Amino acid sequence: MASLTVRQLDEKVKKLLRLRAARHGRSMEDEIRTILGQAAQGSGRDPPEAIDPPARAGAQAVRPSFATPEPSRERPATSSARRVLLIIGGGIAAYKSLDLIRRLQDHGIAVRCILTKAAQEFVTPLAAGALAGGHVHTDLFDPKSEFDVGHIRLARDTDLVVVAPATADLMAKMAGGHADDLASAVLLATDQPILIAPAMNPMMWSHKATQRNLARLLDDGVITVGPDAGEMAERGEAGTGRMAEPTAIAAAAVTLLDATAGQRPLAGKRIVITSGPTHEPIDPVRYIANRSSGKQGHAIAAAAAAAGADVTLVSGPVNLADPPGVRTVKVESARQMLDAVEKALPADCAIFAAAVADWRVANATSEKIKKTKAGMPPLSLVENPDILATIAHRKLGRPRLVVGFAAETENLIANAKDKLERKGCDWIIANDVSSESGVMGGDSNKVHIVTASGVEDWPPQSKDGVARALVGRIAAALVKEPS
Ligand code: C5P
Repeated sequence: MASLTVRQLDEKVKKLLRLRAARHGRSMEDEIRTILGQAAQGSGRDPPEAIDPPARAGAQAVRPSFATPEPSRERPATSSARRVLLIIGGGIAAYKSLDLIRRLQDHGIAVRCILTKAAQEFVTPLAAGALAGGHVHTDLFDPKSEFDVGHIRLARDTDLVVVAPATADLMAKMAGGHADDLASAVLLATDQPILIAPAMNPMMWSHKATQRNLARLLDDGVITVGPDAGEMAERGEAGTGRMAEPTAIAAAAVTLLDATAGQRPLAGKRIVITSGPTHEPIDPVRYIANRSSGKQGHAIAAAAAAAGADVTLVSGPVNLADPPGVRTVKVESARQMLDAVEKALPADCAIFAAAVADWRVANATSEKIKKTKAGMPPLSLVENPDILATIAHRKLGRPRLVVGFAAETENLIANAKDKLERKGCDWIIANDVSSESGVMGGDSNKVHIVTASGVEDWPPQSKDGVARALVGRIAAALVKEPS
């Protein structure tokens, strides 16, 4: 009997077989054996899967895909799936973009991929295609490919373009308006929002040229997520330049998709939000801090931006990515936070979610305090400005709606009511931060809205849920009392 090897197969069949094998996690030889086995068992009653079948039933149910552009053989569409065109740039972080495909799909998003030439040095079109469930696009001109749908079609047939990793080179091309390969041509041709997840060596990130390109891209309306600080792939290298985690990029994409698809009840409104802890220096290396993670304040900023507001987030030191579509001002101390808030005014609404240190060290030193036999020198503390009270008591330029938070471990509502009066704000969002509540640093929250007209108890929910509900309430209040 004559033998047949994969190498002898027709190129087109080989390509389709490779896709099918990757999808099923088998070698190409095993895939052929399976097909032949199915054919033999089926005796004509159960025909084997087509050589390029839709994904297995289970996978198809949870992995949405793009509408099939003729003559492509990409998987059929899930009717109303939102669509992301993912451009994978050439950096070591490209391997994380494979996980990003999955994380986007977890949100019911259909993903189509473009790989730059450099990206193909790190991940293969086959791997990306197997995860995305369709052909991966790599060439600007590919008249021979049956998958060629043209860069204009790729640029338009999507709801959002995500570039991850966005390398220094890709950012430079975007900023310069280049169009000499498929990725850059699509980025120039698209009329949809663009989200980039920069990833590069810290020296490249801080280089003036990259920062110049970043400023231009932000000016053009491109939205960024990350980069994060931490260890780099290169041994011994650390700093800012790591690509944001796939879950964070997917969350940013969802926020943007919500913002563009949904209603924008806060369009035209300016909102200032404080978030995170403050650090009050003792000497150049030591400081007084608290356990605030900034998760609730950042979630409110993201939700307000998604609702169309022009948001300035004044953030103390946190381990969170800057929320997409938000102007983030990073500060350390309470005094810097007050200064940044005042600079961000006028605003329609100000929300004070930060856990501001009540006191700072009066005798902070510019040199590191040495350990001596005399022991620890006494720290003398002075009160910090109360940012919420300062803004709420303003005679001129007071935001129409001033919202404070009350983090309490006991007598929650009584303390919140007292705070509402003392601080002169319109609403207090009261939450229990006792260690049993798990609120500090956790992902969920149970809040009570305390206003002059009463107390509203909200059910326990995620901090994102609290943020969305609060933004809805703020939008209603601002509409009710137009300026
Ligand atoms: O007094 P207490 O810290 O409990 O008040 C909490 C509220 O006041 C929060 O909204 C917090 O952001 C704000 N605050 C402030 N500046 C301070 C202290 C608290 O804005 N120095």
